[in-house]
Amino acid sequence: MADKLIIFDTTLRDGEQSPGASMTRDEKLRIARQLERLRVDVIEAGFAASSNGDFEAVQLIANSIKDSTICSLSRANDRDIARAAEALKGANRARIHTFIATSPLHMEKKLRMTPEQVLEQARQSVRFARNLVGDIEFSPEDGYRSEVDFLCRVIEAVIHEGATTINVPDTVGYAVPELYGNFIKTLRERIPNSDKAIWSVHCHNDLGMAVANSLAGVKIGGARQVECTINGLGERAGNCSLEEVVMAVKTRKDYFDLEVGIDAQHIVAASRMVSQTTGFVVQPNKAVVGANAFAHASGIHQDGVLKARDTYEIMRAEDVGWTANKIVLGKLSGRNAFKQRLQDLGVSLESEADTNAAFARFKELADRKSEIFDEDILALVSEDNVHGDSEQYAFVSLAQHSETGERPHASVVFTVSGKEVRGESDGNGPVDASLKAIEAHVKSGAEMVLYSVNAISGSTESQGEVTVRLQNSGRVVNGVGADPDIVVASAKAYIAALNKLHSKADRVAAQG
Ligand code: KIV
Ligand code: ZN
Repeated sequence: MADKLIIFDTTLRDGEQSPGASMTRDEKLRIARQLERLRVDVIEAGFAASSNGDFEAVQLIANSIKDSTICSLSRANDRDIARAAEALKGANRARIHTFIATSPLHMEKKLRMTPEQVLEQARQSVRFARNLVGDIEFSPEDGYRSEVDFLCRVIEAVIHEGATTINVPDTVGYAVPELYGNFIKTLRERIPNSDKAIWSVHCHNDLGMAVANSLAGVKIGGARQVECTINGLGERAGNCSLEEVVMAVKTRKDYFDLEVGIDAQHIVAASRMVSQTTGFVVQPNKAVVGANAFAHASGIHQDGVLKARDTYEIMRAEDVGWTANKIVLGKLSGRNAFKQRLQDLGVSLESEADTNAAFARFKELADRKSEIFDEDILALVSEDNVHGDSEQYAFVSLAQHSETGERPHASVVFTVSGKEVRGESDGNGPVDASLKAIEAHVKSGAEMVLYSVNAISGSTESQGEVTVRLQNSGRVVNGVGADPDIVVASAKAYIAALNKLHSKADRVAAQG
């Protein structure tokens, strides 16, 4: 029987470390539920000791997700490890992932510790963690740039103390596939107790080789766990992309001969959710989840695909969750059809009240837009839209005037704690005027660090989906809004971001 390849998703921890990708506790839970639907084996839910917000997010996910193992990152010290164990108490299956840097550069310049001190701290931390939780992962940070003899001593010691998974990070994305694969192989061959742990790969994408390096770690090195993120989200150039690594192993089963438990049909929805939540747009030519990943534009290709699909397609779009941009619902569709479609799309709303509110928004949209696509429905039920009504600020209406040669003017009506107010402003364009009209009233003082517009289903008839990223007093939040009118979508996105800034939740991103 083929070996199983464990899929360890770190979108909520390493992915979130990407500047601007910080997520609220509820957003993290929503993504964790999608990861559970995907049947991810291990979800790294955060870094419990890094902030109260992260602790609460790990705790909430540990209490809510039942099918995946829930993991918290932790530095190699007793305080961090105890905090991780505390946050994971409610989990069906819990894992502590503890790390300490082992490369000469990191030990000397960052930790200011001798190799012997690092070895001792790694040993003691794993011993301490093992008394709290049975499933312990150890990572020598910057492992790939570490000196092999020293790394062998550290890993042998932590396996002896009870580490059950050994993860070898290429923290700075310096590896190339053959060398990284052989590095893992050498470690496994030289460490006498290496067979007592599962070996894992964790590759960053600075040279664009994170997926290739991870696969080499599996094929050449014999690793049986891959750490990855949805859309390859992560600091700098990101992490190994879950969808690419999973589809490589599934599509080339002839070569890898491994089983993966992932239910690939939920991949596109997961990609959309992460992109929408963080405002990190997926490039159109991105493998598997990019808008063009299965599009055939040239006549020769189209002709070939029509005659025999596998002339130009190695995977089926529907197997990873693409639907053929078909009209799924319309003005006359009822509540049950809407609910069924949500279920087919893998969306579960928290309560009947949320479903009713989403259905009301659907009806409103169907009145203005004859063709409603799956993408429209997903936008309708996005976190920011669903909870809009219960927040501090809620959009009501907008009027704006723009004409060539004249300065645009906007008037926006919205509620503040349920009370209707109106803001007015001029601006460089209608969007600028509308956002300034809101700001004129709210006076948040926040700086806008990102504004992006995306046509949800590709044509000018589609809804525009806008992401606004605001920064204030060191906090960074994303707001998303969707509407056929992109000025309205922009106002909704701005209001969603203001609501997040207004909420008390602590969401300082973890620093690993
Ligand atoms: O890249 C890295 O080294 C990490 C570790 C904390 C596992 O993310
Ligand atoms: Zn990392």
